[in-house]
Amino acid sequence: MAKASAPGKLILFGEHFVVYGLPAIATAIEARTVAKVKQARKFSLQDNRPETPGYKKEKRDQQSDSIQRILKVMGLEGEKVSIELGGNLIAASGVGASGASCAAIAAALNEEFELGKGIDEINDVAYEGEKGYHGVPSGIDNCCSTYGGFILFRKDLKTGEGIVKQLHSKAILSIVIGNTGITSNTTEVVEDVKREKQRDPDRFSRMLDDYSMIIKEAESSLDNGDLRKIGLLMNMNHLLLEEMDVSCPELEELVDIAANSGALGAKLTGTGRGGLMIALVNKETEGTVASAIEKASFRSEITRIGARGVRVEHDGTTC
Ligand code: MEV
Repeated sequence: MAKASAPGKLILFGEHFVVYGLPAIATAIEARTVAKVKQARKFSLQDNRPETPGYKKEKRDQQSDSIQRILKVMGLEGEKVSIELGGNLIAASGVGASGASCAAIAAALNEEFELGKGIDEINDVAYEGEKGYHGVPSGIDNCCSTYGGFILFRKDLKTGEGIVKQLHSKAILSIVIGNTGITSNTTEVVEDVKREKQRDPDRFSRMLDDYSMIIKEAESSLDNGDLRKIGLLMNMNHLLLEEMDVSCPELEELVDIAANSGALGAKLTGTGRGGLMIALVNKETEGTVASAIEKASFRSEITRIGARGVRVEHDGTTC
């Protein structure tokens, strides 16, 4: 039996813009998905991850497509394996649940079948698995779950290749997550955005220009550890996502709650139209922001970011 784990991710800047070749910044979080894999008499999948109610049922067909893609690209098509998923990463929209499970499954299969694949190949396999969930995703989620830390990610639209640069921050960043409890469909939302681009290309091009300025400043503010500026830029990024029509009333409520309870900045993260809101906080305000979210009947969680990427877990580590 082999066991591997990979962290969830949060996109700090640039979801959807990344699909159009602009850079985005993402970070790995503390919570991880653990995959246990073993050769067996027949194929089986046991998914014990905690979830936003309904998430796993909604994604069941996509998950099955994803696992078949992973097995095929690893040359293991038709192999009988039992896969068990667990860990403390909640299976929800916005947190990179599929990317984390694809990376963890790829690394565990690599170990179980002694394939000797390196980290970049594990990332390629995880990307193939992501296609089962998201059609043709940018690749930011699997890169973040595989490599960990903070990444600046850009998709080269000509070659389709994802370009990853590791980033560092002088500041310790704390994030409060607010969960809408709504599961969204990335493929559908990305298609809607594409239609909107075709409907009004000038407006879309202006939004891309506005975002380009935000991401340039975000990279330097993160490096300098300028928390106030990062928060302000997150607010600006959220306004553009709202204009892009990927927000929803629950996300707007969460952003307002965070702003009114002392967060330095807040935005939706990931696909949008549900999923998660993230608020940048400091030690003094993290508890207040989290309580205000819970008071409004949403689930909240405080997380540190910049966690380690995918890794094989040896005996003695917990699942
Ligand atoms: C989903 O986590 C992020 C999106 O930008 C889609 C993608 O990058 O493929 C919405």
